[in-house]
Amino acid sequence: MRFLLTGAAGFIGSHVADALLAEGHEVVGIDNLDPYYDVARKEANVAEVEGAGHPGRFEFRRTDIRDADGMQGLYDGQPFDSVVHLAAMAGVRNSIDHPDLYWSVNVDGTRNLLEKLVVSDQPRNFVFASTSSVYGATKQIPFVESDPCDRPMVPYSASKRAPS
Ligand SMILES: NC(=O)c1ccc[n+]([C@@H]2O[C@H](COP(=O)([O-])OP(=O)(O)OC[C@H]3O[C@@H](n4cnc5c(N)ncnc54)[C@H](O)[C@@H]3O)[C@@H](O)[C@H]2O)c1
Repeated sequence: MRFLLTGAAGFIGSHVADALLAEGHEVVGIDNLDPYYDVARKEANVAEVEGAGHPGRFEFRRTDIRDADGMQGLYDGQPFDSVVHLAAMAGVRNSIDHPDLYWSVNVDGTRNLLEKLVVSDQPRNFVFASTSSVYGATKQIPFVESDPCDRPMVPYSASKRAPS
């Protein structure tokens, strides 16, 4: 299968890329290398995936998911079988200081990805990483997916709940 993987330079994304490539899939990984934490760490993640010995099956592009033309350009190429959407501004505390940025990336960026996917009429197999913080101050431990998640306590949680 051919995957579009957003957040490919991140902690989870780079491991997902490794796993998909090890299973024989093709991966186009995108990430804007946001400086929320050390960009060198993200570059090293990409270099590790590139160096893992899957020639021709991994391509990395430094792209922002909010870039309408950039995302349309990706979907205009060879079609994807599946989109794994991990790109996000993550972090509960940081979102309190930067709520607009979290809304812009996690809501508007996700909407941009989804809109372009629908317009390009590609398979609608879309995996989206949410966060356990959507359950707010629940007393139900461990969390269950059927729990209400309409009382987010921080902008990060709200920005993940909104597109879900
Ligand atoms: N790590 C966890 O414990 C955890 C728990 C729950 C949910 N998640 C979710 O899983 C996903 C991956 O988390 P992670 O821990 O790997 O975080 P991460 O910060 O390491 O990875 C996210 C990646 O998204 C990229 N990114 C940010 N804004 C972007 C933009 N506008 N365009 C393109 N790329 C952008 C960042 O540069 C980063 O590399 C996120 O959606 C996160 O909310 C993570």
